[in-house]
Amino acid sequence: MLGVIGGSGLYQVDDINILDEVNISTPYGEPSDRYIIAEYRGKKAVFLPRHGKGHKYPPHLINYRANIWGFRKLGVDRILSVSAVGGINPLLKPGDFVLSDQFIDFTKVRPVTFYEGVYTIYDETDGKDDLVSEYLKNNRVVHIDVTDPFCSSMRKTLSDILDEKGYRYHKKGTYIATEGPRLETSAEIKAFSILGADIVGMTLVPEIVLARELSMHFASINVVTNLAAGISGERLTSDEVIQMMKEKNDQIKEIILSFIEK
Ligand code: HPA
Repeated sequence: MLGVIGGSGLYQVDDINILDEVNISTPYGEPSDRYIIAEYRGKKAVFLPRHGKGHKYPPHLINYRANIWGFRKLGVDRILSVSAVGGINPLLKPGDFVLSDQFIDFTKVRPVTFYEGVYTIYDETDGKDDLVSEYLKNNRVVHIDVTDPFCSSMRKTLSDILDEKGYRYHKKGTYIATEGPRLETSAEIKAFSILGADIVGMTLVPEIVLARELSMHFASINVVTNLAAGISGERLTSDEVIQMMKEKNDQIKEIILSFIEK
């Protein structure tokens, strides 16, 4: 089943049937909100607003482990994430979509793994889960491979959808993840550009890492809401981020519905 992480209201669409709304407790605490299980044209998907109701959790305080664990508990094996980013690469314009294919991690103080000790995962599943059994059998430190962290097949589907719709987008891009909640200095953005980053945001890490630890496929639709610090010469405001996400909301919904259908 597909899981969608994004803003609230992405499932408020005429053709979507809400089947259930579930609260899930996890060994890592509470997820950001209830999970909405919905059906669209015979296909099911689960939705979760990353920042919770009323945007109550800032990026550095989101319980990413609980969010991803909850999806897994509901049977989700593919996650489509929607996020706002600043554009670093000069080819990017506000309003563009970017299908990121790499990330660089500049976060600092977030729990980044489920694998903190032999029994942490075992307790929850009774060892019935294949993935967990494997972990237990090996009984060792786990270093997952993230050479290519994003799912190429999900990215291809997104790219086909964006081609069909005719929306301006970029087929690949390196996402640099910052700790936040402050925005970046212009010197940081210059440095990130030299490192090869195309877009900057505060939520991809550890979301993708945790999903990969639980063997889920992951893809991201990044919306360039603003040019990153120091690029336009203007100060950045949260308003421009919120405003652009509002403007792109209908297009994002269309992309997600097409994705659910495919
Ligand atoms: N920096 C970090 N995160 C962001 C930005 C930005 O410029 N825009 C939207 N999310």
